[in-house]
Amino acid sequence: MNEQVIQWGRSYTDASIAALVGDGRVHSRVYTDPAIFELEMERIFSSAWIYVGHESEVSKAGDYQMRSIGRTPVLMVRGIDQSVRVLINRCRHRGAQVCETESGNTKFFQCWYHGWTYDSTGALVSVTGKEGYGDRLNMKEMGLSQAPRTGSYRGFVFASLATDGESLETFLGNAGPIIDLLVDASPTGEIYADGGANKTEYLGNWKLVGMDGYHPHFVHASVFAAMHRNPEAGIGATHREDPFEDTARTRTLDFGHGHAMLDFRKHRINHYEPHAQFLKKTKGGAEYIEAMHKAYGGERARLLLSLGGDPHLGIFPNLQLIGNQIRIITPLACGLTQVTMTAVRLGGVSDEINAMRLRQHESFYGPAGSGSPDDAEIFERVQRGMAAEVNPWVEISRGMDREQTDADGNTVGLISDEVPQRGMMRYWSELMTASRVPQRSLA
Ligand code: FES
Ligand SMILES: [Fe+2]
Repeated sequence: MNEQVIQWGRSYTDASIAALVGDGRVHSRVYTDPAIFELEMERIFSSAWIYVGHESEVSKAGDYQMRSIGRTPVLMVRGIDQSVRVLINRCRHRGAQVCETESGNTKFFQCWYHGWTYDSTGALVSVTGKEGYGDRLNMKEMGLSQAPRTGSYRGFVFASLATDGESLETFLGNAGPIIDLLVDASPTGEIYADGGANKTEYLGNWKLVGMDGYHPHFVHASVFAAMHRNPEAGIGATHREDPFEDTARTRTLDFGHGHAMLDFRKHRINHYEPHAQFLKKTKGGAEYIEAMHKAYGGERARLLLSLGGDPHLGIFPNLQLIGNQIRIITPLACGLTQVTMTAVRLGGVSDEINAMRLRQHESFYGPAGSGSPDDAEIFERVQRGMAAEVNPWVEISRGMDREQTDADGNTVGLISDEVPQRGMMRYWSELMTASRVPQRSLA
Protein backbone atom coordinates (compact mmCIF):
# COMPACT_ATOMS: atom_id res chain seq x y z
CA MET A 1 0.00 0.00 0.00
CA ASN A 2 1.22 3.50 -0.75
CA GLU A 3 2.39 5.54 2.16
CA GLN A 4 -0.45 7.89 1.42
CA VAL A 5 -3.97 6.56 1.21
CA ILE A 6 -6.51 8.74 -0.45
CA GLN A 7 -10.17 7.92 -0.03
CA TRP A 8 -13.12 10.23 0.32
CA GLY A 9 -10.67 13.07 -0.20
CA ARG A 10 -8.69 12.27 2.92
CA SER A 11 -5.03 11.36 2.99
CA TYR A 12 -3.18 9.99 5.96
CA THR A 13 0.49 10.19 6.77
CA ASP A 14 2.11 8.66 9.86
CA ALA A 15 1.90 12.05 11.52
CA SER A 16 -1.75 12.60 10.72
CA ILE A 17 -2.67 9.12 12.01
CA ALA A 18 -0.74 9.74 15.23
CA ALA A 19 -2.60 13.03 15.63
CA LEU A 20 -5.93 11.16 15.76
CA VAL A 21 -5.00 9.70 19.17
CA GLY A 22 -4.49 12.50 21.64
CA ASP A 23 -3.76 12.74 25.33
CA GLY A 24 -6.83 10.99 26.77
CA ARG A 25 -8.91 11.44 23.65
CA VAL A 26 -9.46 9.87 20.23
CA HIS A 27 -10.79 11.46 17.06
CA SER A 28 -14.03 9.81 15.99
CA ARG A 29 -12.63 9.39 12.47
CA VAL A 30 -10.67 6.46 13.93
CA TYR A 31 -14.04 4.69 14.10
CA THR A 32 -15.89 6.19 11.16
CA ASP A 33 -13.51 6.70 8.23
CA PRO A 34 -13.34 3.87 5.66
CA ALA A 35 -9.82 4.99 4.76
CA ILE A 36 -8.70 4.29 8.33
CA PHE A 37 -10.39 0.89 8.14
CA GLU A 38 -8.42 0.09 4.97
CA LEU A 39 -5.21 0.97 6.77
CA GLU A 40 -6.22 -1.21 9.73
CA MET A 41 -6.70 -4.18 7.42
CA GLU A 42 -3.13 -3.71 6.18
CA ARG A 43 -1.25 -2.54 9.24
CA ILE A 44 -3.04 -4.45 12.00
CA PHE A 45 -4.88 -7.42 10.55
CA SER A 46 -2.24 -8.26 7.93
CA SER A 47 0.66 -7.73 10.30
CA ALA A 48 -0.04 -8.51 13.96
CA TRP A 49 -0.78 -11.86 15.60
CA ILE A 50 -4.46 -12.61 15.04
CA TYR A 51 -6.43 -15.24 16.95
CA VAL A 52 -7.76 -17.93 14.61
CA GLY A 53 -9.32 -20.63 16.78
CA HIS A 54 -8.88 -23.19 19.52
CA GLU A 55 -7.26 -26.55 18.86
CA SER A 56 -10.23 -28.32 20.43
CA GLU A 57 -12.39 -27.07 17.55
CA VAL A 58 -10.40 -29.37 15.26
CA SER A 59 -9.85 -32.37 17.49
CA LYS A 60 -9.80 -35.10 14.80
CA ALA A 61 -7.74 -35.40 11.62
CA GLY A 62 -9.63 -33.67 8.82
CA ASP A 63 -11.57 -31.33 11.14
CA TYR A 64 -11.59 -27.75 9.89
CA GLN A 65 -12.98 -24.34 10.77
CA MET A 66 -13.39 -21.56 8.21
CA ARG A 67 -12.10 -18.28 9.67
CA SER A 68 -10.55 -15.04 8.48
CA ILE A 69 -7.53 -12.90 9.24
CA GLY A 70 -8.77 -9.46 8.34
CA ARG A 71 -9.91 -9.95 4.77
CA THR A 72 -7.83 -13.06 4.20
CA PRO A 73 -9.99 -16.20 4.27
CA VAL A 74 -8.26 -19.02 6.14
CA LEU A 75 -8.91 -22.57 7.25
CA MET A 76 -7.74 -23.93 10.58
CA VAL A 77 -7.31 -27.62 9.80
CA ARG A 78 -6.01 -30.66 11.63
CA GLY A 79 -4.12 -32.62 9.00
CA ILE A 80 -3.91 -36.36 8.56
CA ASP A 81 -0.52 -35.97 10.30
CA GLN A 82 -2.37 -34.49 13.37
CA SER A 83 -0.70 -31.07 12.94
CA VAL A 84 -2.96 -28.02 13.15
CA ARG A 85 -2.30 -25.60 10.27
CA VAL A 86 -3.67 -22.26 9.22
CA LEU A 87 -4.10 -22.56 5.45
CA ILE A 88 -5.09 -19.74 3.13
CA ASN A 89 -8.54 -20.58 1.74
CA ARG A 90 -7.61 -19.72 -1.82
CA CYS A 91 -7.10 -22.12 -4.69
CA ARG A 92 -3.64 -21.97 -6.19
CA HIS A 93 -5.17 -22.19 -9.67
CA ARG A 94 -7.27 -19.08 -10.19
CA GLY A 95 -8.00 -17.98 -6.66
CA ALA A 96 -11.42 -19.36 -5.71
CA GLN A 97 -12.10 -20.20 -2.08
CA VAL A 98 -11.73 -23.97 -1.91
CA CYS A 99 -13.95 -24.32 1.17
CA GLU A 100 -17.33 -22.65 1.62
CA THR A 101 -18.56 -24.53 4.69
CA GLU A 102 -18.11 -23.01 8.15
CA SER A 103 -16.82 -26.18 9.74
CA GLY A 104 -16.70 -29.91 9.17
CA ASN A 105 -14.49 -32.91 8.59
CA THR A 106 -13.01 -33.85 5.26
CA LYS A 107 -10.20 -35.81 3.67
CA PHE A 108 -9.97 -33.40 0.75
CA PHE A 109 -10.82 -29.86 -0.24
CA GLN A 110 -11.90 -29.90 -3.88
CA CYS A 111 -12.07 -26.50 -5.57
CA TRP A 112 -15.51 -25.73 -6.94
CA TYR A 113 -14.18 -24.02 -10.06
CA HIS A 114 -12.06 -26.59 -11.95
CA GLY A 115 -11.70 -29.36 -9.43
CA TRP A 116 -8.12 -29.04 -8.17
CA THR A 117 -7.98 -31.09 -4.99
CA TYR A 118 -5.96 -30.59 -1.81
CA ASP A 119 -5.59 -32.90 1.19
CA SER A 120 -6.00 -31.93 4.84
CA THR A 121 -2.34 -30.84 5.06
CA GLY A 122 -2.92 -28.47 2.12
CA ALA A 123 -0.93 -30.57 -0.39
CA LEU A 124 -2.21 -30.46 -3.97
CA VAL A 125 -3.04 -34.08 -4.74
CA SER A 126 -4.98 -33.88 -7.99
CA VAL A 127 -5.27 -31.55 -10.97
CA THR A 128 -8.02 -32.06 -13.52
CA GLY A 129 -6.43 -32.84 -16.92
CA LYS A 130 -2.93 -32.30 -15.59
CA GLU A 131 -1.32 -33.28 -18.90
CA GLY A 132 -2.58 -29.98 -20.31
CA TYR A 133 0.08 -28.16 -18.28
CA GLY A 134 2.94 -30.23 -19.70
CA ASP A 135 5.96 -29.82 -17.42
CA ARG A 136 4.94 -26.38 -16.25
CA LEU A 137 3.14 -27.39 -13.08
CA ASN A 138 5.10 -28.63 -10.08
CA MET A 139 2.35 -30.00 -7.85
CA LYS A 140 4.67 -30.12 -4.84
CA GLU A 141 4.95 -26.33 -4.93
CA MET A 142 1.27 -25.68 -5.50
CA GLY A 143 -0.29 -26.71 -2.21
CA LEU A 144 -2.56 -24.32 -0.32
CA SER A 145 -0.44 -21.53 1.12
CA GLN A 146 0.07 -21.40 4.85
CA ALA A 147 -0.09 -18.32 7.06
CA PRO A 148 3.57 -17.22 7.19
CA ARG A 149 3.67 -17.59 10.98
CA THR A 150 1.51 -19.56 13.39
CA GLY A 151 1.77 -20.08 17.11
CA SER A 152 -0.25 -21.60 19.90
CA TYR A 153 -0.66 -20.85 23.58
CA ARG A 154 -2.52 -23.51 25.59
CA GLY A 155 -4.52 -24.50 22.54
CA PHE A 156 -5.27 -20.94 21.39
CA VAL A 157 -4.01 -20.75 17.79
CA PHE A 158 -2.77 -17.44 16.44
CA ALA A 159 -1.42 -16.61 13.00
CA SER A 160 0.28 -13.68 11.36
CA LEU A 161 0.40 -12.79 7.69
CA ALA A 162 3.69 -10.96 8.26
CA THR A 163 6.79 -13.02 7.48
CA ASP A 164 8.66 -11.55 10.43
CA GLY A 165 7.95 -9.76 13.67
CA GLU A 166 7.98 -10.47 17.37
CA SER A 167 7.23 -13.96 18.73
CA LEU A 168 3.76 -14.88 19.96
CA GLU A 169 5.18 -15.15 23.47
CA THR A 170 6.54 -11.60 23.34
CA PHE A 171 3.30 -10.36 21.82
CA LEU A 172 1.19 -11.91 24.61
CA GLY A 173 3.61 -10.76 27.32
CA ASN A 174 2.04 -10.51 30.76
CA ALA A 175 -1.39 -11.24 29.26
CA GLY A 176 -0.36 -14.84 28.35
CA PRO A 177 -0.61 -16.31 31.86
CA ILE A 178 -4.01 -14.62 32.27
CA ILE A 179 -5.33 -17.05 29.63
CA ASP A 180 -4.47 -19.79 32.15
CA LEU A 181 -7.28 -18.49 34.39
CA LEU A 182 -9.73 -19.86 31.84
CA VAL A 183 -7.95 -23.10 30.90
CA ASP A 184 -7.16 -24.00 34.51
CA ALA A 185 -10.79 -23.64 35.55
CA SER A 186 -10.69 -27.28 34.45
CA PRO A 187 -9.03 -29.58 36.99
CA THR A 188 -7.39 -31.38 34.06
CA GLY A 189 -6.36 -28.15 32.30
CA GLU A 190 -8.54 -28.96 29.30
CA ILE A 191 -11.17 -26.81 27.65
CA TYR A 192 -13.31 -27.67 24.65
CA ALA A 193 -14.63 -24.94 22.39
CA ASP A 194 -16.83 -27.44 20.61
CA GLY A 195 -20.30 -26.51 21.80
CA GLY A 196 -21.24 -24.27 18.89
CA ALA A 197 -21.35 -20.49 18.85
CA ASN A 198 -23.80 -17.61 18.83
CA LYS A 199 -23.01 -14.78 16.45
CA THR A 200 -24.14 -11.23 16.32
CA GLU A 201 -23.48 -8.33 13.98
CA TYR A 202 -23.74 -4.69 14.96
CA LEU A 203 -23.60 -1.54 12.88
CA GLY A 204 -20.54 -0.15 14.61
CA ASN A 205 -16.76 -0.20 14.63
CA TRP A 206 -14.80 -3.26 15.83
CA LYS A 207 -12.87 -1.26 18.44
CA LEU A 208 -16.01 -0.49 20.45
CA VAL A 209 -16.51 -3.92 21.97
CA GLY A 210 -15.24 -5.07 25.34
CA MET A 211 -13.19 -4.15 28.43
CA ASP A 212 -15.32 -1.29 29.73
CA GLY A 213 -15.96 -1.28 33.46
CA TYR A 214 -17.69 2.11 33.33
CA HIS A 215 -20.87 1.14 31.45
CA PRO A 216 -22.57 -1.76 33.31
CA HIS A 217 -24.67 0.31 35.73
CA PHE A 218 -26.25 2.08 32.75
CA VAL A 219 -26.34 -0.32 29.80
CA HIS A 220 -27.09 -3.30 32.08
CA ALA A 221 -29.26 -1.51 34.66
CA SER A 222 -31.99 -4.14 34.30
CA VAL A 223 -29.54 -6.93 35.27
CA PHE A 224 -28.41 -5.10 38.39
CA ALA A 225 -32.04 -4.45 39.33
CA ALA A 226 -32.79 -8.18 39.07
CA MET A 227 -29.74 -9.06 41.20
CA HIS A 228 -30.75 -6.57 43.88
CA ARG A 229 -34.27 -8.00 43.95
CA ASN A 230 -32.98 -11.53 44.54
CA PRO A 231 -29.35 -11.51 45.69
CA GLU A 232 -29.39 -15.17 46.76
CA ALA A 233 -30.28 -16.48 43.32
CA GLY A 234 -27.75 -17.80 40.86
CA ILE A 235 -24.54 -15.90 40.29
CA GLY A 236 -26.04 -13.00 42.22
CA ALA A 237 -24.98 -14.81 45.37
CA THR A 238 -21.36 -13.88 44.61
CA HIS A 239 -22.10 -10.26 43.83
CA ARG A 240 -23.15 -8.87 47.20
CA GLU A 241 -20.33 -6.39 46.81
CA ASP A 242 -20.95 -4.57 43.50
CA PRO A 243 -17.84 -5.25 41.40
CA PHE A 244 -18.40 -2.14 39.29
CA GLU A 245 -18.18 0.32 42.18
CA ASP A 246 -14.85 2.12 42.36
CA THR A 247 -14.74 1.23 46.05
CA ALA A 248 -14.64 -2.50 45.15
CA ARG A 249 -11.42 -4.51 44.90
CA THR A 250 -11.77 -4.71 41.14
CA ARG A 251 -9.28 -3.02 38.81
CA THR A 252 -8.59 -2.25 35.17
CA LEU A 253 -5.26 -3.52 33.80
CA ASP A 254 -3.33 -2.57 30.68
CA PHE A 255 -0.66 -5.14 29.82
CA GLY A 256 0.77 -3.31 26.80
CA HIS A 257 0.31 -4.48 23.18
CA GLY A 258 -3.32 -3.36 23.50
CA HIS A 259 -4.15 -6.28 25.82
CA ALA A 260 -6.34 -5.33 28.77
CA MET A 261 -8.35 -6.88 31.58
CA LEU A 262 -11.11 -6.07 33.99
CA ASP A 263 -9.42 -7.66 36.97
CA PHE A 264 -11.98 -9.28 39.26
CA ARG A 265 -9.49 -11.54 41.07
CA LYS A 266 -9.41 -9.84 44.48
CA HIS A 267 -13.15 -9.22 44.41
CA ARG A 268 -14.15 -12.77 43.51
CA ILE A 269 -11.81 -14.56 45.90
CA ASN A 270 -13.36 -12.51 48.67
CA HIS A 271 -16.62 -14.25 47.74
CA TYR A 272 -15.17 -17.74 47.46
CA GLU A 273 -17.35 -19.30 50.16
CA PRO A 274 -20.78 -18.32 48.74
CA HIS A 275 -19.54 -19.28 45.28
CA ALA A 276 -18.43 -22.73 46.52
CA GLN A 277 -21.83 -23.18 48.20
CA PHE A 278 -23.49 -22.25 44.93
CA LEU A 279 -21.39 -24.81 43.00
CA LYS A 280 -22.28 -27.55 45.47
CA LYS A 281 -25.96 -27.16 44.63
CA THR A 282 -25.20 -28.64 41.20
CA LYS A 283 -24.46 -32.36 40.72
CA GLY A 284 -20.72 -32.89 40.64
CA GLY A 285 -20.02 -29.52 42.26
CA ALA A 286 -18.42 -30.89 45.41
CA GLU A 287 -16.26 -33.27 43.32
CA TYR A 288 -15.24 -30.37 41.09
CA ILE A 289 -14.09 -28.33 44.08
CA GLU A 290 -12.15 -31.28 45.46
CA ALA A 291 -10.49 -32.02 42.10
CA MET A 292 -9.45 -28.37 41.75
CA HIS A 293 -7.82 -28.35 45.19
CA LYS A 294 -5.97 -31.57 44.33
CA ALA A 295 -4.79 -30.24 40.98
CA TYR A 296 -3.75 -26.72 41.91
CA GLY A 297 -3.46 -26.47 45.70
CA GLY A 298 -5.52 -24.36 48.10
CA GLU A 299 -4.86 -20.73 47.22
CA ARG A 300 -4.69 -21.16 43.43
CA ALA A 301 -7.72 -23.48 43.45
CA ARG A 302 -9.74 -20.93 45.41
CA LEU A 303 -8.80 -18.21 42.94
CA LEU A 304 -9.59 -20.36 39.89
CA LEU A 305 -12.92 -21.50 41.31
CA SER A 306 -13.89 -17.98 42.36
CA LEU A 307 -13.22 -16.65 38.88
CA GLY A 308 -15.11 -19.54 37.34
CA GLY A 309 -12.93 -19.44 34.21
CA ASP A 310 -13.68 -15.77 33.53
CA PRO A 311 -10.45 -13.81 33.10
CA HIS A 312 -12.33 -10.92 31.44
CA LEU A 313 -9.33 -10.45 29.18
CA GLY A 314 -9.00 -8.76 25.80
CA ILE A 315 -6.12 -9.85 23.55
CA PHE A 316 -5.69 -7.18 20.89
CA PRO A 317 -7.11 -7.03 18.32
CA ASN A 318 -9.68 -9.82 17.98
CA LEU A 319 -9.83 -12.19 20.99
CA GLN A 320 -11.71 -11.72 24.24
CA LEU A 321 -12.15 -14.22 27.06
CA ILE A 322 -15.22 -13.18 29.01
CA GLY A 323 -17.57 -15.21 31.19
CA ASN A 324 -17.60 -18.75 29.83
CA GLN A 325 -16.82 -17.81 26.26
CA ILE A 326 -14.14 -17.38 23.64
CA ARG A 327 -15.14 -14.28 21.72
CA ILE A 328 -13.83 -13.42 18.26
CA ILE A 329 -14.21 -9.88 16.96
CA THR A 330 -14.34 -9.77 13.16
CA PRO A 331 -14.27 -6.36 11.51
CA LEU A 332 -16.36 -6.45 8.30
CA ALA A 333 -16.36 -2.70 7.50
CA CYS A 334 -15.62 0.41 9.53
CA GLY A 335 -19.25 0.49 10.65
CA LEU A 336 -19.99 -3.26 10.70
CA THR A 337 -18.64 -5.87 13.09
CA GLN A 338 -19.32 -9.53 13.69
CA VAL A 339 -18.93 -10.97 17.18
CA THR A 340 -18.74 -14.75 17.60
CA MET A 341 -19.15 -16.16 21.09
CA THR A 342 -18.22 -19.79 21.57
CA ALA A 343 -19.15 -21.27 24.92
CA VAL A 344 -16.46 -23.38 26.52
CA ARG A 345 -16.84 -26.81 28.10
CA LEU A 346 -14.48 -27.73 30.94
CA GLY A 347 -12.71 -31.10 30.96
CA GLY A 348 -12.82 -33.16 34.15
CA VAL A 349 -16.15 -31.84 35.47
CA SER A 350 -19.69 -33.24 35.45
CA ASP A 351 -22.06 -32.61 32.55
CA GLU A 352 -24.31 -30.83 35.01
CA ILE A 353 -21.61 -28.28 35.89
CA ASN A 354 -20.96 -27.65 32.19
CA ALA A 355 -24.69 -27.36 31.51
CA MET A 356 -25.06 -24.85 34.35
CA ARG A 357 -22.17 -22.79 32.92
CA LEU A 358 -23.77 -22.87 29.48
CA ARG A 359 -27.11 -21.66 30.91
CA GLN A 360 -25.28 -18.79 32.66
CA HIS A 361 -23.61 -17.88 29.37
CA GLU A 362 -26.92 -17.90 27.52
CA SER A 363 -28.67 -15.84 30.18
CA PHE A 364 -26.38 -12.82 29.71
CA TYR A 365 -24.58 -13.30 26.39
CA GLY A 366 -27.06 -15.34 24.35
CA PRO A 367 -29.20 -13.90 21.53
CA ALA A 368 -32.11 -13.46 23.97
CA GLY A 369 -29.81 -12.78 26.94
CA SER A 370 -30.03 -9.88 29.33
CA GLY A 371 -26.64 -8.37 28.42
CA SER A 372 -25.16 -8.71 24.94
CA PRO A 373 -28.12 -7.37 22.96
CA ASP A 374 -27.91 -4.17 25.05
CA ASP A 375 -24.18 -3.91 24.34
CA ALA A 376 -24.75 -4.26 20.58
CA GLU A 377 -27.47 -1.60 20.75
CA ILE A 378 -25.23 0.90 22.54
CA PHE A 379 -22.40 0.35 20.02
CA GLU A 380 -24.82 1.22 17.22
CA ARG A 381 -25.88 4.38 19.06
CA VAL A 382 -22.21 5.31 19.49
CA GLN A 383 -21.52 4.77 15.80
CA ARG A 384 -24.49 6.95 14.82
CA GLY A 385 -23.43 9.71 17.23
CA MET A 386 -19.85 9.67 16.01
CA ALA A 387 -20.95 10.58 12.50
CA ALA A 388 -21.07 14.14 13.89
CA GLU A 389 -17.82 15.96 13.28
CA VAL A 390 -18.65 18.95 15.41
CA ASN A 391 -16.48 18.49 18.50
CA PRO A 392 -15.38 15.12 17.12
CA TRP A 393 -13.18 13.98 20.00
CA VAL A 394 -14.06 10.89 22.05
CA GLU A 395 -13.02 11.27 25.69
CA ILE A 396 -11.00 8.41 27.25
CA SER A 397 -9.16 10.26 30.02
CA ARG A 398 -11.06 8.85 32.99
CA GLY A 399 -8.58 7.90 35.74
CA MET A 400 -5.50 9.29 33.95
CA ASP A 401 -4.44 11.16 37.04
CA ARG A 402 -4.81 8.18 39.36
CA GLU A 403 -3.49 5.26 37.29
CA GLN A 404 -0.43 3.45 38.61
CA THR A 405 2.18 0.97 37.46
CA ASP A 406 2.29 -2.39 39.24
CA ALA A 407 5.37 -4.51 39.99
CA ASP A 408 5.02 -6.32 36.63
CA GLY A 409 4.96 -3.07 34.64
CA ASN A 410 1.21 -3.16 33.92
CA THR A 411 -0.85 0.03 34.16
CA VAL A 412 -3.57 -0.26 36.81
CA GLY A 413 -6.68 1.82 37.41
CA LEU A 414 -9.99 1.63 39.22
CA ILE A 415 -12.71 -0.47 37.59
CA SER A 416 -14.44 2.48 35.92
CA ASP A 417 -11.20 4.01 34.62
CA GLU A 418 -10.50 4.14 30.91
CA VAL A 419 -7.15 2.35 31.29
CA PRO A 420 -8.07 -0.40 28.75
CA GLN A 421 -9.24 2.15 26.16
CA ARG A 422 -6.02 4.15 26.45
CA GLY A 423 -3.86 1.01 26.28
CA MET A 424 -5.67 -0.24 23.21
CA MET A 425 -5.42 3.08 21.39
CA ARG A 426 -1.74 3.49 22.29
CA TYR A 427 -0.91 0.18 20.60
CA TRP A 428 -3.29 0.91 17.73
CA SER A 429 -1.37 4.09 17.09
CA GLU A 430 1.96 2.22 17.15
CA LEU A 431 0.82 -0.38 14.64
CA MET A 432 -0.84 2.16 12.38
CA THR A 433 2.41 4.09 12.02
CA ALA A 434 3.74 2.82 8.71
CA SER A 435 7.40 2.83 9.69
CA ARG A 436 6.69 0.02 12.18
CA VAL A 437 4.89 -2.28 9.74
CA PRO A 438 6.79 -5.56 9.33
CA GLN A 439 7.63 -6.66 5.84
CA ARG A 440 5.10 -8.83 4.09
CA SER A 441 6.09 -11.26 1.41
CA LEU A 442 4.45 -10.73 -1.95
CA ALA A 443 5.73 -14.10 -3.13
S1 FES B 1 -9.79 -21.90 -9.35
FE1 FES B 1 -9.59 -23.71 -8.22
S2 FES B 1 -9.52 -25.25 -9.70
FE2 FES B 1 -9.63 -23.42 -10.86
FE1 LIG C 1 -21.81 -4.71 28.46
